Amino acid sequence: MSQLKNDLFIRAAKKEKIERTPIWIMRQAGRYLPQYRAVREKSDFLTMCKTPELAAEVTIQPVDLIGVDAAILFSDILVIPEAMGMELIMNEGKGPIFPSPIRNTSDIEKLKNIDPMVELKYVMDAVSLTKKNLDNRVPLIGFCGSPWTLMTYMVEGGGSKSFSKIKNFIYTQPEAAHVLLDKIAKASVNYLSAKIEAGCDAVQIFDTWGGILSPSDFEEFSLPYMKYIVSELKRKDEPVILFAKGVHHRLKQLAKSGANVVGLDWTMDLGKVREKIGDLVALQGNLDPTVLYASEEKIEYEVKKVLKAYGKGSGHIFNLGHGILPDIEPAKAKALVEIVKKESVKYHKG
Ligand code: CP3
Repeated sequence: MSQLKNDLFIRAAKKEKIERTPIWIMRQAGRYLPQYRAVREKSDFLTMCKTPELAAEVTIQPVDLIGVDAAILFSDILVIPEAMGMELIMNEGKGPIFPSPIRNTSDIEKLKNIDPMVELKYVMDAVSLTKKNLDNRVPLIGFCGSPWTLMTYMVEGGGSKSFSKIKNFIYTQPEAAHVLLDKIAKASVNYLSAKIEAGCDAVQIFDTWGGILSPSDFEEFSLPYMKYIVSELKRKDEPVILFAKGVHHRLKQLAKSGANVVGLDWTMDLGKVREKIGDLVALQGNLDPTVLYASEEKIEYEVKKVLKAYGKGSGHIFNLGHGILPDIEPAKAKALVEIVKKESVKYHKG
């Protein structure tokens, strides 16, 4: 790790002194880039995930094209349930679908206990190849979904608006829910540990659906399993980022989980959150992703607000508050990165 040519992201995650604020963008390897769409045109999504050359190529695209300070491995959170034996269809425009979702204990028992070095070896091969091709220009982030977020997809069978199936499941079969969460959490520990072993410099856990739970249900069904992953992870000093979208109410608990960084969505006040938990962790975020529809002048104005909200000193990793949308112009993403690089310098002087 020490040989990284640009290690601003790693140093910010550890709140070490830096010259400017680093930036990467959630979903930066994706459809807003014509170069991504050109690769995607020739292969379906899962084939791209399972072909290390293709995964490495699209992982590095935003480093070359947009100038971000970290790469995130092109893959998906849903490769774990797929490896456990669930059929997964990545539907163009419709999002992911599990045609045979989890309904009961017997469905859970049928799920395989996976060895990431076997069923998900293609991910580790993609990590190794990406590290080699990146040539230490920037760190490589590995990721997984939180057990709660994966269980939501596995029970809903895909995306949802009301989350009626998963809510029905936790209220009518809570014991089964915990068995499943435990199974996913154990697989995730092995998976993220293997990714670090294969060369990832940091990892992020995405709890995309943490925010649909009440505070007490979040404490029962999501938080403990993320804490378990953080505490069991085999790592030297690779930083861990927890991103729980919409979870305003348990920031202190997330900060005390053992993670180095807490990711924030755009509905949170970065300055106030720093006051609350900024002594415990670094913070990542949190520009509204839709600001990138605006003019460059407006983007600059909004970026300055985010930088000012965090204020002086290390411990801030710039990012959007959620993934970049597929219809954003790449030039806007590039402008965002340049503005952050230029405007953040003054917050690190003295
Ligand atoms: O951030 C990156 O650039 C790395 C790659 C990455 C993808 N998915 C690629 C992808 C990452 C980090 C993810 C994580 C992921 N996947 C999450 C958590 C992050 C979040 O956004 O909250 C979730 C919930 C998923 C599940 C998933 N995968 C959905 C809901 C979809 C479809 C939605 C959409 O944007 O169309 C996917 C497909 C997917 N994963 C695409 C990409 C680039 C688009 C597929 C395509 O090219 O057709």
